Amino acid sequence: MSVKKQNTILVVDDENGVRQSFNMVLKNDYNVLLAGSGQEAMDIFTKKSADMILLDIMLPDFDGLDLLKKFKETDPNTEIVMVTAVKEVQTAVKAMKLGAYDYIIKPFKIEKVMTVIRRALEKQSLVKEVTYLRNELKRYHSFEEMVGKDKKMGDIFELISTVAKGDGTVLIQGESGTGKELVARAIHNRSPRNDQPFVVINCAAIPPTLMESEIFGYNRGAFTGAAKTSMGKLEIAHKGTVFLDDIDSLDINMQAKLLRIIQEKEFERLGSNKVIKADIRFVAASNKDLENMISEGKFREDLFYRLNVFPIKLPPLRKRKRDIPLLLNHFIELFAKETGNSPKNISDKAIRVLQEYDWPGNVRELKNLVERLLTITKGSMIRIEDVSTLNVAQKEIKEVTLKEAVRSFEKRYISETLESVNGSRKKAAELLGVHRNTLLSKTNEFGLSNKGVSSLPLN
Ligand SMILES: Nc1ncnc2c1ncn2[C@@H]1O[C@H](COP(=O)(O)OP(=O)(O)OP(=O)(O)O)[C@@H](O)[C@H]1O
Ligand SMILES: [Mg+2]
Repeated sequence: MSVKKQNTILVVDDENGVRQSFNMVLKNDYNVLLAGSGQEAMDIFTKKSADMILLDIMLPDFDGLDLLKKFKETDPNTEIVMVTAVKEVQTAVKAMKLGAYDYIIKPFKIEKVMTVIRRALEKQSLVKEVTYLRNELKRYHSFEEMVGKDKKMGDIFELISTVAKGDGTVLIQGESGTGKELVARAIHNRSPRNDQPFVVINCAAIPPTLMESEIFGYNRGAFTGAAKTSMGKLEIAHKGTVFLDDIDSLDINMQAKLLRIIQEKEFERLGSNKVIKADIRFVAASNKDLENMISEGKFREDLFYRLNVFPIKLPPLRKRKRDIPLLLNHFIELFAKETGNSPKNISDKAIRVLQEYDWPGNVRELKNLVERLLTITKGSMIRIEDVSTLNVAQKEIKEVTLKEAVRSFEKRYISETLESVNGSRKKAAELLGVHRNTLLSKTNEFGLSNKGVSSLPLN
């Protein structure tokens, strides 16, 4: 049992007999340290680390609870099991509230002691593993705000780092929600221009009639309504980066003007002849097939080649399904941080179902789904029933047991019925043909009473 011997247990008890009997029981499987008083225990604990402590509640020189607090302050990872007489059980319960793992009542049975110790150490190693894995994820799979461990994403992270050093235009292509804007920002953040502005020009959102004045700016009186001189986005972005989002939406006239600016690095405000220098790095993005648009005469070929100096093609999420568990956990943690709650877990089965799904809306769809899951999930574990409640991946849910499928159907059916009667439990119970108490216990079981429905009348 060399594995177990790696663990060290500190036994703190003022009765020599008790110390010796613990020693007898434990020494084959664990490294044992013995202390006959609180002070001695503290001295040992400051010099040597222990994975767990068996701590007598009644010590002559120290209050057991004070000692517990001190140990936990010194090393919160050390698990502490209180050793107590029957009459001190109340104190033992208090100790658990203060962070003790469990308590053993004297006189104790060897098996009981061994089980408690094993469980405490198991819990401790799980906590360590989770902490380790979380750190690992952070270390290796995050780049700026992006996560991804699929080789395709690794290559893209590398490409971003390389591209960021230069000044050539970048064209990011990929389906909606694949992270094009994040990539654009990452390029800027990693570039020598990162202390200068990152300016977004959303070509799909700005009406063509306003596009010119937005981009170039204008002098007072340049057109009706130009009451004062105004800087355009290009001028603001001087020495920085301009992100031309949805470049495919740019009308053909503006395409020609943009081409000129990229080539000549200068422009004029509307209503002015003064030439303004533009030291700008252009990054463009599109979720359309630009080459197709060229053949249809909707996008200028010369502009395409000007933009496409560094092409970055983002793969859709369905082509990098390995990233799905990572992204799920990433967003669970992100939302937990935002709301100040501790992050929920997600069951393996739920992950598997979500991994089967094709994600037409890519990472954005996944992020939105996590947000919705977190609001509907009762308790600390996102389970397959929660996932199926959201109508995601319906076709893919084949691995569910009949019981889980029934539960999920029940939950959805009840929730929809309640919604249809504005939350009235009385009416819903009638419609569903069940007693109100049955409905109440079901809504509690499914966590429906906390979600929206709870704010509705309880009639
Ligand atoms: N690899 C990733 N890691 C973490 N978050 C990501 C990743 N990719 C995308 N996201 C997140 O997904 C959402 C969508 O990303 P983004 O806005 O960059 O997509 P897009 O490709 O620009 O989409 P659209 O074409 O619809 O504008 C954002 O909230 C973004 O933070
Ligand atoms: Mg975008």
